Amino acid sequence: MKLSFTVNGSPKTLDLDHRVTLLDALRDRLGLTGTKKGCDHGQCGACTVMVNGQRVNSCLSLAVMHDDDEITTIEGIGTPEKLARLQQDFVECDGFQCGYCTPGQIVSATAMIEEAKAGWPSYVSPSLADMGQLTDEEIAERMSGNLCRCSAYPGIRQAIAKEAE
Ligand code: FES
Repeated sequence: MKLSFTVNGSPKTLDLDHRVTLLDALRDRLGLTGTKKGCDHGQCGACTVMVNGQRVNSCLSLAVMHDDDEITTIEGIGTPEKLARLQQDFVECDGFQCGYCTPGQIVSATAMIEEAKAGWPSYVSPSLADMGQLTDEEIAERMSGNLCRCSAYPGIRQAIAKEAE
């Protein structure tokens, strides 16, 4: 099947078997290996990308479902020469150890901070939505889909809080 979508601002067209996941299309067909394959079944968040600004586990999503979508991967957030502010915050706060989960953490946190700035959607409990800022507890809850096997969580939450100030 033919898939036309936008990845990190560039239009892409791929001819894919309909069973190929978005994760495999990004990594194997487009060479965007910053998006990591951890569990490959929706448990770890290492494969998180943004689809039209929303966080998605790309291992759970078939690529052909994303015709006309806008995909943002870690390669679309900052560059090695010029890190995004959140990436710099991760460095300064020691928000990683081995680094394998970091692309997913950064993509997920970027989308989550945008959600927070826009106001939580109505399905979020009023007690959380009324806080008006990202508390440590709230960050932990909103980032619970991204696991870190090294347990760098305090630094990760600190970096996100710094960015969300
Ligand atoms: Fe997709 Fe773990 S690789 S959630």
